[in-house]
Amino acid sequence: MKNIIFFTFTFFLLNGFSFLNGKAPESSDQCFVCHEQLGGVADLFKKDIHFQKGISCAGCHGGDSKTDDMDKAMSKSAGFLGIPKGDDISLRCANCHAKKEMMQKYGSHLPTNQLELLKASVHGKLSTTGKEKIVQCITCHNAHGIVSVKSPASPVYPLNIPNTCGKCHSNAKFMQTYNPSLAVDQVAKYRTSVHGMLNAKGDPKPAECASCHGSHGIRATADTKSQVYALNIPETCSKCHSDAEYMAGYKIPTDQYAKYAISVHGKALLEKHDVGAPACNSCHGNHGATPPGVESISKVCGSCHALNADLFSSSPHKQAFDKEKLPECETCHSNHAIMPATKAMLGVSKEAVCSKCHTESKSTKGYFVAQKMRSYVDSLDASEALALKLINEAEQKGMEISETKFKLRDAHQAKLEARTMVHSFNEEKFKEVVVGKGLAVTTASISEAKEAVDNYFFRRYGLMVSVLIISVLSFALYLYIKQIEKKQASKIS
Ligand code: HEC
Ligand code: HEC
Ligand code: HEC
Ligand code: HEC
Ligand code: HEC
Ligand code: HEC
Ligand code: HEC
Ligand code: HEC
Ligand code: HEC
Ligand code: HEC
Ligand code: HEC
Repeated sequence: MKNIIFFTFTFFLLNGFSFLNGKAPESSDQCFVCHEQLGGVADLFKKDIHFQKGISCAGCHGGDSKTDDMDKAMSKSAGFLGIPKGDDISLRCANCHAKKEMMQKYGSHLPTNQLELLKASVHGKLSTTGKEKIVQCITCHNAHGIVSVKSPASPVYPLNIPNTCGKCHSNAKFMQTYNPSLAVDQVAKYRTSVHGMLNAKGDPKPAECASCHGSHGIRATADTKSQVYALNIPETCSKCHSDAEYMAGYKIPTDQYAKYAISVHGKALLEKHDVGAPACNSCHGNHGATPPGVESISKVCGSCHALNADLFSSSPHKQAFDKEKLPECETCHSNHAIMPATKAMLGVSKEAVCSKCHTESKSTKGYFVAQKMRSYVDSLDASEALALKLINEAEQKGMEISETKFKLRDAHQAKLEARTMVHSFNEEKFKEVVVGKGLAVTTASISEAKEAVDNYFFRRYGLMVSVLIISVLSFALYLYIKQIEKKQASKIS
């Protein structure tokens, strides 16, 4: 009995009661046990997700974690690798993170593509020495004290990302060694946006650097595979902005992409791949993604539609809209669902935008001007159609009319010019284009084409008359000859 008590007692002493807590990782990880006494790295490692998964220091550094003999544990023969440097660092992480079977051994189903993506990214190609890449896994995740990316303590948690990227991207001296022309104002500008301000207030949902650029596979912005390449932008923004559930806590609509995709701009960019058409960021900015304020919308649109914006600025609407705080272009064209403009917008009918504000009893001068502007356009259209019809007729009759046909293009040009000149909202200026340039040409073309058709009939009629005259004359001549022959025959007989 005594023996048993003694035996148990010494057993507890020797084992430090550790079996009562189950098999804690530190007891079997001699690297940790010894390094914990040394302090430093091991303290950080206590919070580390790898530590919690039972991964030893040896998981990354190699060596024999079972022995408490320092020299044996950290000997080359035991596979000790020392402190990884340069590209070896990411390879060390990839030793597990790029291997499915390895990760499954720890019960993990995380993706295993991080190294592959990083290698193909702009960061995975940059190097100061020509050998080691400047960005390794630990640049964004740290080496010790790694926690789940969903933990607020992670350097890649949304609230911490701007600083993690800004370590380099806000450091002018550092960035200049790679690309002197690259801006270093992204974080600063980001902080002025709705996204950046909410992020600074502790809201992890609004876009941060990685939501727009990606994380492991970040590409140069001009790369067609970049998430922020013009053609890919609408999709990048719509990941959140079209997700009603994600955006539920905010008081803004989630229809921007749906509207944009069917707009004249969305079709030009997404269907015709016309990179001259605006993507979301063309109007909202890259990092300062705020809705353009009411005052600045015409500047945004005017960066591409300069003439329209200039005309608008000197039009009577400029002051009137400013006074009522109406957004300049948006009031008539909307913002996301901009449709091709047609003359149906102009005038005083129900579909016309003008009639939203101008009626016979309210804002009447505008009403009458709108009515007149529309009637000028209608006259030009009718006149151009008639000119075309007559030119076609003349052509079919084989008349030479190419010069008139060529000239009629000027009328078409005037029509296009008029669509822009609408924005002067000034009857005289508009008339100058539609009547002075357009109708003048169509009227001249109509009379030229008419003349050609008349000429055709004149010539055909003339030919018939001359054929008739010649026939009559030749018949008369024939009769005359016959008569002479008869006379001569009677003389002989
Ligand atoms: C019995 C104590 C002990 C054990 C066991 C031990 N180490 Fe160490 N380790 C040390 C000491 C002491 C140093 C030197 C500290 C210094 O130079 O500042 C060191 C240094 C290191 C270094 C830095 C090497 C360098 O080149 O500067 C690494 C990495 C390391 N140990 C990892 C491990 C790993 C992995 C294991 C287990 C396989 C392990 N250690 C086991 C005590 C230990
Ligand atoms: C997830 C992989 C990983 C694990 C696990 C890991 N390390 Fe490291 N360790 C690294 C990397 C990578 C570096 C290089 C850091 C750098 O270059 O800044 C490093 C550097 C070190 C260094 C030298 C530089 C420093 O930060 O002081 C020591 C010492 C060290 N590790 C010890 C340990 C010990 C002890 C453990 C276990 C308690 C451990 N490491 C666990 C990856 C790891
Ligand atoms: C440029 C910064 C950056 C670098 C470099 C980086 N990561 Fe990440 N990592 C992130 C961000 C940000 C996330 C958060 C989730 C996301 O957006 O993908 C993340 C998420 C992860 C995750 C969680 C699962 C996943 O894929 O989302 C793992 C695991 C991971 N990284 C491992 C690595 C490894 C291994 C390397 C090196 C090969 C690496 N990371 C390099 C930024 C980086
Ligand atoms: C020995 C294998 C191994 C090595 C080496 C390793 N990891 Fe891990 N890592 C894991 C496992 C297992 C997990 C936990 C996965 C899970 O929870 O599904 C993990 C988790 C992570 C996470 C958190 C992912 C999440 O769920 O949010 C990050 C980040 C990470 N590792 C980065 C690194 C980095 C950086 C290195 C290299 C310095 C590295 N790992 C080296 C196995 C490893
Ligand atoms: C709302 C989406 C969004 C967010 C958030 C965002 N970016 Fe950008 N970023 C863009 C777009 C769009 C471009 C420009 C693409 C182009 O020029 O075609 C860009 C361009 C860049 C460039 C290239 C140089 C330049 O300034 O044009 C860098 C570097 C960059 N971003 C880094 C960052 C960093 C760092 C953060 C976090 C502070 C960040 N971005 C946040 C969308 C975003
Ligand atoms: C270790 C420093 C470092 C960190 C951290 C870093 N970057 Fe970079 N990044 C660079 C350098 C250097 C370049 C290359 C500049 C060049 O040559 O154009 C670059 C390029 C880029 C580019 C391409 C710019 C272009 O030319 O179009 C983008 C986008 C970018 N980084 C975004 C990010 C984001 C987002 C993060 C954070 C998740 C981040 N970077 C973290 C150093 C860093
Ligand atoms: C990660 C999700 C996410 C992504 C990606 C994202 N946003 Fe946002 N955005 C938000 C959230 C959340 C808000 C906050 C809503 C609010 O304003 O209350 C917001 C706000 C905005 C606002 C301000 C709205 C307002 O009137 O308050 C604009 C404009 C905007 N985003 C444009 C963009 C553009 C353009 C892109 C793409 C380049 C983009 N966002 C990408 C989540 C995102
Ligand atoms: C042609 C310019 C233009 C384009 C392209 C554009 N927007 Fe807008 N956006 C605007 C204007 C103008 C406003 C309204 C500003 C106001 O009235 O104060 C706005 C408002 C917003 C708002 C605030 C909420 C709302 O609906 O009023 C969000 C969010 C937004 N846009 C996101 C996007 C996204 C996402 C895309 C791409 C799919 C996009 N925008 C494309 C011009 C544009
Ligand atoms: C008061 C209403 C109104 C406002 C405000 C307005 N437009 Fe227009 N817009 C029209 C009408 C009407 C047309 C002509 C339709 C037609 O005859 O085909 C038009 C046509 C256009 C066209 C197609 C013709 C062309 O010029 O290529 C563009 C582009 C255009 N507008 C841009 C703008 C921009 C940019 C602004 C702001 C600076 C703006 N509009 C403000 C009513 C308006
Ligand atoms: C990045 C340049 C760009 C910006 C910014 C831009 N647009 Fe456009 N817009 C275009 C291009 C290019 C087209 C021609 C698309 C096509 O039909 O192929 C177009 C077409 C249009 C049309 C139809 C023209 C027609 O002939 O019917 C209207 C109306 C229009 N834009 C209004 C606006 C308004 C209003 C804004 C500001 C809210 C704006 N645009 C901002 C480039 C731009
Ligand atoms: C959002 C309301 C609104 C719309 C839509 C609108 N206008 Fe106006 N317009 C005004 C206001 C307000 C004035 C200032 C003078 C007034 O109250 O009559 C004005 C003034 C004018 C004037 C100058 C009148 C004067 O007194 O000298 C003309 C011309 C005009 N508009 C034409 C048009 C045409 C053409 C359209 C359609 C393409 C149109 N407006 C659409 C609100 C609008």
